Amino acid sequence: MMPHVARKVSEARKYLEGKRSSDSRVGLVPTMGFLHEGHLSLVRRARRENDTCVVSIFVNPLQFGPTEDLEAYPRDMDRDLDLLSSEGVDLVFAPDPDEMYSPDRSVTVTERDISRSLCGSARPGHFDGVCTVVLKLFNILSPDRAYFGEKDYQQLQVVRRMARDLDVDVEIRGCPIVREKDGLAMSSRNIYLGEAERRDALALSKALVEARSAFEAGERDCRKILATVRRVLEAHPLVNIDYAEIRDAETLLPVERVEGRAVVALAARVGKARLIDNTFLEP
Ligand code: PAJ
Repeated sequence: MMPHVARKVSEARKYLEGKRSSDSRVGLVPTMGFLHEGHLSLVRRARRENDTCVVSIFVNPLQFGPTEDLEAYPRDMDRDLDLLSSEGVDLVFAPDPDEMYSPDRSVTVTERDISRSLCGSARPGHFDGVCTVVLKLFNILSPDRAYFGEKDYQQLQVVRRMARDLDVDVEIRGCPIVREKDGLAMSSRNIYLGEAERRDALALSKALVEARSAFEAGERDCRKILATVRRVLEAHPLVNIDYAEIRDAETLLPVERVEGRAVVALAARVGKARLIDNTFLEP
């Protein structure tokens, strides 16, 4: 069945008012559309674990930098709605930018700790944009649970922190990375890759596999694990490393030795695409 599509905040609220009762749960999957199996894995889980499943589709201008790909970002609402119909989604919230942002808006949400490094230093203001839109979506849709992919691991942790520090009554659930058969993490931005770039882009997931092998063979020294990671990435000429780091999986603080759960996080530019990927190391 076709989901109900709300373009207005008031319409989404009205729809959900009719659904809510004391023993009924609402699950939200925030997206920017151009959906792939990664998004759909979140949708399936939200559907399974809740009575009402809501997906938002909104290419959020606030989280794009002035030189980033806001205009070029791929969009295909008809295809997205077809996919979401097949998944049995109840409500799609797809506002226009002017429905979300008044011209004189003057309040944004800033996380000041874990959003500053990794993608936050390459993309200043990005996580303010993410926090602001996600808090707005939480306020508009009042989900009981919200689903985020571990592909954007820093985003997941930043959103958790925001919800905790601002007492948002929502449970944040993280979902594993969905990959193409050859290992490339699925992303709407993979469409930017030309043939040769697509081949070299595999270096990211390959480098993470190497990091895990080194770790499983007993290596705990992050400098050594990262040397392996860089060697793999640098063997692919179309890959420009943005960062390759190992961080504590909870705090995202740098670690020298892997003693608790850690995340190996990569970002690289491949042609016009900026790609990210990560994996966990668990002692
Ligand atoms: P978007 O890039 O569309 O991703 C929406 C959600 O899908 C995010 O939680 C992301 O982590 C998840 N996702 C994307 N690719 C995935 C993959 N290969 N495996 C598992 N999950 C994947 O992230 C955003 O949009 C925006 O920043 C948003 C949170 C919607 C705020 O605007």
